[in-house]
Amino acid sequence: MELKGQGAIVTGAASGIGREVARLLAEEGANVAAFDRDGAGARAIAAEIEGHAFEVDVRDGDAVAHATTAAAEKLGDLSILVNNAGSGDLRPMHTVDDRLWHRLIDVNLSGVHYGMRSAIPVMLEAGRGAVVNLASLSGISPTRNEAPYSAAKAGVIALTSSGALEYGPTVRVNCVAPGFVRTALTAIWEDHPDAFAPIREAIPLQRIGEAREIAELVLFLCSDRSSYITGQTIVIDGGLSLPQAGTDAALSRLFDKLQG
Ligand SMILES: NC(=O)c1ccc[n+]([C@@H]2O[C@H](COP(=O)([O-])OP(=O)(O)OC[C@H]3O[C@@H](n4cnc5c(N)ncnc54)[C@H](O)[C@@H]3O)[C@@H](O)[C@H]2O)c1
Repeated sequence: MELKGQGAIVTGAASGIGREVARLLAEEGANVAAFDRDGAGARAIAAEIEGHAFEVDVRDGDAVAHATTAAAEKLGDLSILVNNAGSGDLRPMHTVDDRLWHRLIDVNLSGVHYGMRSAIPVMLEAGRGAVVNLASLSGISPTRNEAPYSAAKAGVIALTSSGALEYGPTVRVNCVAPGFVRTALTAIWEDHPDAFAPIREAIPLQRIGEAREIAELVLFLCSDRSSYITGQTIVIDGGLSLPQAGTDAALSRLFDKLQG
């Protein structure tokens, strides 16, 4: 029970990575507030882990502030914040209209700012805190057709560095950058296994990641086991971002051929 008695907010807790983070933090003794715009989903995970549900859209700064104050009161402590809510969209950059641009920037970047802005004063007052932000490999090495998402996630990495500089030593702020993880966000790949095959081949661990594996890293960054780590973005991608991972499968085929 590494987090016994600690209060934690997890945004986007109704699904995927956020749901596994909420489960794992609760297993380790934290009291969890599940924030999600999907109220029914937030209530379901809160009921499962004996936590508290808050139907909140992270694009609304005032709503995040109110829910954070209410959560801190209910939890009796607020020393962990996991800014996980996010969503994506795939289309060429020149076809992104203002509405979509602002939606993607607001959910993926502004939501992280609103979360930190609301929770960090409570943490500073209490004298301790750990924040973990969910970025993406796309924020470091963008892929095609997700420009606003990648730009927002690059912003999350920068916000993480700024937060670590401004709020240490009381509050540690770190970031997790996953590659491909099996959740609703990546479900489209399950409908097109042929398209995903070369990606799987390029991943040294040869498979998509599971939400629980990301949650384990988030738990580490929330707990005192990472007490000397702040301002870092930790990539968790099965090795996909290794510089030569994309060419390795082709090299391996060539090598097999040359071996006869
Ligand atoms: N799945 C992946 O491969 C992957 C890779 C890199 C990064 N990520 C990041 O991990 C995080 C979690 O993604 P996931 O794969 O679990 O996705 P998911 O779609 O399974 O879950 C996202 C959750 O966020 C909630 N949400 C979305 N917009 C919201 C809003 N405006 N306000 C409040 N809640 C909102 C959704 O209702 C949902 O419960 C995201 O930030 C995502 O960008 C995921």
